[in-house]
Amino acid sequence: MRNAQITGIGHYLPERVITNFDLEKIMDTSNEWIVGRTGIRTRRWVQHGDTLSGLAYNAANKALAMAGKTAEDIQLILFASMASDHAFPGGGCFLQDKLQIPGVPAMDIRNACSGFLYGLSVADQFIKTGKYDTVLLVGAEIQSTSLDLTTRGRDVSVIFGDGAGAAVITATDNSDKGILTTHLHADGRYANKLWADAPSVNDHPPLTKELLDTDRIFPKMEGRFVFKHAVEKFPEVINEALQTTGLGIGDLDLIIPHQANLRITEAITHQLKIAGEKVFSNIERYGNTTAASIPIAISEAVDQGLIKKDSLVCLASFGSGFTWASAIIRW
Ligand code: UT7
Repeated sequence: MRNAQITGIGHYLPERVITNFDLEKIMDTSNEWIVGRTGIRTRRWVQHGDTLSGLAYNAANKALAMAGKTAEDIQLILFASMASDHAFPGGGCFLQDKLQIPGVPAMDIRNACSGFLYGLSVADQFIKTGKYDTVLLVGAEIQSTSLDLTTRGRDVSVIFGDGAGAAVITATDNSDKGILTTHLHADGRYANKLWADAPSVNDHPPLTKELLDTDRIFPKMEGRFVFKHAVEKFPEVINEALQTTGLGIGDLDLIIPHQANLRITEAITHQLKIAGEKVFSNIERYGNTTAASIPIAISEAVDQGLIKKDSLVCLASFGSGFTWASAIIRW
């Protein structure tokens, strides 16, 4: 049977490093609070000149190089992001323009922290059916420019970072390799537990000068509520993938959870009764990069030799929507 396999992976982070001590200077927070509640010590934030499609382009080129492919080999672009370079069209088209491959379909996926896994599942279906042989999947975010950088928004703004990760996914005839299973879920009842209320097309007009003076334009989160659901859904969706494939937790070489909070990662490790070194974490350096977090983590795990040929890896996510998802891949 034909399978889909990640044959190239790459990541790119903006150069500007923001420490918790930098945040202490602009809002009422502390390094101690941020490290204790989230595990985050630094994150990357863009500066003037950086663009969303630019971050994505740099990550995509690294993934293409690893796969031994060029942009001309791409038959479909999947662009997972909460953002776009402009209000519309979606970011996939701006990335496609940078890659100089006019005519190739560019599809946007807006499922926040689960965006990369939603995209992985879409790529898997298109490749398994024989429609495409080579798909570029990117998770990229610029979040720092939309945050409330005052004490009012501190619970959210200390968490999020910018970055991009990309995967080149190609067809293989070896059914033991590649994406073995994917599982996608959503529950829109809780959409307003982690969201930005405005600008909204339901307002007439969506943008007013008054609106800009309110906090409705900033991302908001009911942190404890989100946390509670995250620690429940991560193990649930990982177990769903294990049951589908008939694998046990002990068969996995590595679990890569979306990097939401170190305490969430530790809770997953505890609940699944798996050794800490088998659960990847880089949130300390990059914070929560939403759709970019899983591909950045895969790319770093490959660079660090934690993922090698034939490694069995479980990917899992939870975030705004709510959405949650998992996949098991054999590298
Ligand atoms: O990727 C999408 C999925 N996202 C998640 O899974 C995130 C889930 N949630 C969380 O990670 C945590 O809920 C947070 C890290 C966001 C917050 O941690 P918490 O332990 O749930 O804190 P809290 O929101 O209950 O706030 C505790 C206290 C409050 O003060 P009082 O009311 O106890 O006086 C907050 O005002 O901490 C205060 N606080 C802060 N203090 C210093 C909130 N943010 C900050 C801050 N610095 N940045």
